[in-house]
Amino acid sequence: MKGKVLGLDHVGVAVRDPRQRLPLWAEVLGLPLDRAEAVPTEGVRTWFLDFGGGHIELLEPLSDDSPIARAIEKRGEGIHHLCLAVDDLEAALARLAARGIEPLGGGARPGAGGCTVAFLHPKDTGGVLLELSQRPPGAPAHGAAEVAAHPFAPGALAVLYAKDPRARMVGVIRALDAVGVTLAGLDLDAWEDWVAQWSRGERGPLTPSLQFYPIARVEKLQADEDAPDLPSFGRRFAERTGLALSEALAGGDGRR
Ligand code: CO
Repeated sequence: MKGKVLGLDHVGVAVRDPRQRLPLWAEVLGLPLDRAEAVPTEGVRTWFLDFGGGHIELLEPLSDDSPIARAIEKRGEGIHHLCLAVDDLEAALARLAARGIEPLGGGARPGAGGCTVAFLHPKDTGGVLLELSQRPPGAPAHGAAEVAAHPFAPGALAVLYAKDPRARMVGVIRALDAVGVTLAGLDLDAWEDWVAQWSRGERGPLTPSLQFYPIARVEKLQADEDAPDLPSFGRRFAERTGLALSEALAGGDGRR
């Protein structure tokens, strides 16, 4: 049979500001952020967090009149849709059409990650906005490693080593492009003192700062990941304070 379901592809979760929501998923729960991708036709940026058998897809509205912005306005943040992977979307839609069920917008359309997708209206599914998704030809099978990981997407925790050896910083990436990298973070020389203060429940005078490093002055930018003999900064911070590091660092410039 063509058009069969291969598995749960992802759960879509509408969020107002991914910078506020990513720390829970990525740091506290430890789901790797696979990729962040804008889908301008839908007015949304998607953040894919890998939970092993599938993904949590955080949906960030890119404009006030996008469908996600309207959904948040109506129902607040939260679960927005379920997505099932299918082997053949056209075949699946043909079977649905035979039962009088038509997808929203009349058919299949391009989705994130090069997939072809279609949405079924909640009135046809008992209240679930249901996405069906077919991967592009040549893409890894469901459950296999993703095409590309982007540990340097905005919101990710990174460690920056500047060419000036005194400048070493851990922080949350705010922006990264050919010009430079903006980190909301903390000088690593101050790290131990800062964590000690946070573990005592004080924020103290060592306030994280928002800093821009031109690419020419960056020696190395490294994802904040566990190494065999050294836990990541995020893990060390969480173990000592019970808090998410990126959340603690995100207030660096006084706004969220
Ligand atoms: Co989706």
